[in-house]
Amino acid sequence: MGRMMTKIVTPQDRKPPFSPVIRTLLQFHRPCAQTVGVPLPGGAVTCALLRHGIASQEKKTTHVIAADSTPPQSISDEDALAQLALRDRLGCHHYRQRMNTEHYHAAEVFGGGRTRFHPENFPILRITLQCLLRATLTYWWGNWNARQHRVRENTIALRRLPPAFEGYRILQISDLHLDIDPKITTALIATLNPLHYDLCVITGDYRAETFGPYDAAMREAIRIVDAIRGPRYGILGNHDFLAMAPILERAGLPMLLNEHVAIERDGQHIYLAGVDDPHYYETENFEQALQGIPAEATTIVLSHTAETYRKALACGIDYMLSGHTHGGQICLPGGFAPLRNAQHPRAMDKGPWHYHELRGYTTTGVGCSMVPVRFFCPPEVVIHTLRHDPQG
Ligand SMILES: [Fe+2]
Repeated sequence: MGRMMTKIVTPQDRKPPFSPVIRTLLQFHRPCAQTVGVPLPGGAVTCALLRHGIASQEKKTTHVIAADSTPPQSISDEDALAQLALRDRLGCHHYRQRMNTEHYHAAEVFGGGRTRFHPENFPILRITLQCLLRATLTYWWGNWNARQHRVRENTIALRRLPPAFEGYRILQISDLHLDIDPKITTALIATLNPLHYDLCVITGDYRAETFGPYDAAMREAIRIVDAIRGPRYGILGNHDFLAMAPILERAGLPMLLNEHVAIERDGQHIYLAGVDDPHYYETENFEQALQGIPAEATTIVLSHTAETYRKALACGIDYMLSGHTHGGQICLPGGFAPLRNAQHPRAMDKGPWHYHELRGYTTTGVGCSMVPVRFFCPPEVVIHTLRHDPQG
């Protein structure tokens, strides 16, 4: 490969107009080695960064960081820098897989991921369902159901739990889909306010759509994060773009993107790991997320979907917290879900489950997909209480 040059392309008629400071930083930022040298078709972009204003495209021997002339939404200098930091943090392969999938495939009805049909991207189906529910006067009942969050208590029995963590309480919130109906956010905050917990985890899906703008979802997410007390961590789901991560982190929700943190209490530790979305983006990396955790340590993994159960078992984790299924969302009396969106045993659709030595919990979540209604499947937040149990 010839000598690489970095060129900033910011014509006056293009947006966004980065400040001189950002331009200088972009100019000296080391380009992703894997990105350089991979030609892309027809001036297409390498990643969603490009969609938001910074293009990184191979052009002969010149690495070009260009400003997209039609960004779908504005991006601030702060966001641009956050994206660059994210690329270094995740590594080139993870970053490129995420961004290319977002750019080329996020709105597909039929396509990749662990399930081949994505009804949430099928407008006719959504409109038909809306009309059917309104015509039968069941829409208002279902919408009321969607705002009746219940608080579920679940006990996590762990063989190796350090004594300091006996009774430790983890609040799990999942599948918020915050821009589908603001009334759900308000109801959720009212549910969260009186709760007592030591740690909060959010297991993905902040936006209703799987593509397009996410400003409204982020505004609502900030309201939710503000309502959470104490330490909190999040992961991304299949409805989320990577660009949301820096926004959520600035709001006070650190994200675990194939990463882990040590939770300390009275000098003892357990580990909390989070993998990136396994359902659609398939960017989960357990090896990377668990790297550095002592083999004998208690480890709880956040995975947006329990479809990773085989990998989680192989990695020997103690417990996995998931969502994604909504428990079926629109169920028959008794809670049976006619429509499912995950490739795992039906027993993992909701509630506590086990697979050989692996234990886990799939929450029905707090929000809705496609239509803001629920039938025979209440939304829930879950408080998991850790207990030492030699039988585990
Ligand atoms: Fe999901």
